[in-house]
Amino acid sequence: MQTEILKIHDPEKDIAALKRAAEFIRDEEVVAFPTETVYGLGANAWSAGAALKVFAAKGRPADNPLIVHICDMAQLDEICTGMPEMAKKLAAAFWPGPLTMVLAKKQTIPSEVTAGLDTVAVRFPAHPVAHALIKEAGVPIAAPSANLSGKPSPTIFSHVRDDMMGRVAAIIDGPGAEIGVESTVVSFEDDNVRLLRPGGITPEDIHDCLGCEVIIDRAVTGKIDDTEKVSSPGMKYRHYAPSCPLTVVDAPIDSFISYVKHHSDGKKVGILCFDGEENLFPGYEVLTFGNEGDAASQANALFTAIRDLDQKHPDLIFAREAEAGGVGIAVRNRLHKAAGFAIIRPNKI
Ligand code: TXA
Ligand code: MG
Repeated sequence: MQTEILKIHDPEKDIAALKRAAEFIRDEEVVAFPTETVYGLGANAWSAGAALKVFAAKGRPADNPLIVHICDMAQLDEICTGMPEMAKKLAAAFWPGPLTMVLAKKQTIPSEVTAGLDTVAVRFPAHPVAHALIKEAGVPIAAPSANLSGKPSPTIFSHVRDDMMGRVAAIIDGPGAEIGVESTVVSFEDDNVRLLRPGGITPEDIHDCLGCEVIIDRAVTGKIDDTEKVSSPGMKYRHYAPSCPLTVVDAPIDSFISYVKHHSDGKKVGILCFDGEENLFPGYEVLTFGNEGDAASQANALFTAIRDLDQKHPDLIFAREAEAGGVGIAVRNRLHKAAGFAIIRPNKI
């Protein structure tokens, strides 16, 4: 398939490219577009055929539903019914933004979009290009992250080009994602909120807004067996993974270095460490993912670092443990999933 590259940095100036992208969406073709979290692979959310094209382009298992992206609250009424009070409060506080809510679905959304579930995940993105595209298309846009299934989500145009060239009708070349990890996904049960995937909106943010308990789904912090039933289908798949094994070594820098030296024997070893630590690993393939102690900078850099390190084809990778707290819960979740939850604590043995 021929893939058009459409440059849209300012949707108010790059109007011809925006109209072209919107036309593809209306025509039930797939368009990759930037959001503030990661790039998405967008399709007309009213079209079962367009959704199937997204699954094919991504190589995504058919049981993993898509998020429907909206550009105003009126669109929400066309998609879901009976919005809980808690959802209304979260929407008022965090939309537009990196929050996805699982709500009861209307029949209007094809079951191909929601992988047969009677709920639909909805997000109102804040990115100006995403917003302009949904508005110009005149339809909500169903979109997963724009990576090939299993790879780290794309945060810049070149990642999307590497994964999707020849597989989709168009890719928007726009400003990179500011946050760098995918949106927070929540569902509602009785008087509580369940965190299905951590992201830019933190459990603390949700607790402060609603005053209720935020239950952290066990798929966020641990490995889920392929055969187990999960609240959010996407959480059971190995994700974000480089081609070689990745191990998180949870230790201060000195113990990290000594652990790595004792476990490198003749192999080509990749290191994921923090900015400023590059020179501590002579002879290794080293990439950094943000500043120690700064979860937001780690979120922003992690997926690019994993992709770039993977291209150097190491035999194995050792990574520093990501920051805890705030958006750190999202960074740790992605890093631990990339490691298949292989985490070593050398000081604590
Ligand atoms: O930041 C984001 O959320 C990005 C951008 C493009 O908006 N999108 C994204 O989509 O990360 P995706 O498909 O890669 O991840 C969606 C997650 C998956 O884990 C999926 O299983 C879950 O949301 N999900 C979607 N619909 C659901 C539903 N009805 N119930 C429970 N989980 C759902
Ligand atoms: Mg994804």
